[in-house]
Amino acid sequence: MDITQAIRARRSIRKYKAGQTIPREHVELMLEAAMCAPSACNSRPWEFVVVENAELRRQITQLHPYCRSLPDAAMAIVVCGHPEALPDVTGDGFWPQDCAAATENILLQATGLGYGTCWCGVYPDQARAGALAKLLDVEAVPLSLIIVGVPNENPDRRGFLDPTRVKYLR
Ligand SMILES: Cc1cc2nc3c(=O)[nH]c(=O)nc-3n(C[C@H](O)[C@H](O)[C@H](O)COP(=O)(O)O)c2cc1C
Repeated sequence: MDITQAIRARRSIRKYKAGQTIPREHVELMLEAAMCAPSACNSRPWEFVVVENAELRRQITQLHPYCRSLPDAAMAIVVCGHPEALPDVTGDGFWPQDCAAATENILLQATGLGYGTCWCGVYPDQARAGALAKLLDVEAVPLSLIIVGVPNENPDRRGFLDPTRVKYLR
């Protein structure tokens, strides 16, 4: 599947075939794709937690209300960021954008490998991010939780080209 196809084939999957595992080389391709994302000043302010453990996946559903399919899926990849990576940047900094770019790369790589995914938002919900960081024992801030597994549904594509959202300046 090339990049044009992968972008259009991706959709959020909320039903997975239970009891499936993902080979380590595929997990590493997803992590490599994540770390190929651009980041402000090449700060690479990310960390990734691969949650295969079934009990932890169940516990995550207790603190994140919108990831109920996680126990059936093969794993979650939690993308975490370091706000202190670029200390001189004003406001919230660029780390959420950097981590979002890494998140999207994981979704597209997983799609290319034939897996289903769902991006579940964590940051900026401070309670959700704090609880997840505690459960996973990480110092970095969880920005997103990506469910990855073998899809058990085939929803219609929701993305489309909307010309009304585009202004051409010629
Ligand atoms: C920042 C962000 C947070 C999201 N959080 C959740 C979530 O918590 N649970 C969920 O099931 N889907 C979540 N989604 C997925 C969106 O609902 C989904 O992308 C959107 O409905 C479009 O559908 P598609 O992904 O199939 O194109 C999230 C997506 C983004 C970008």
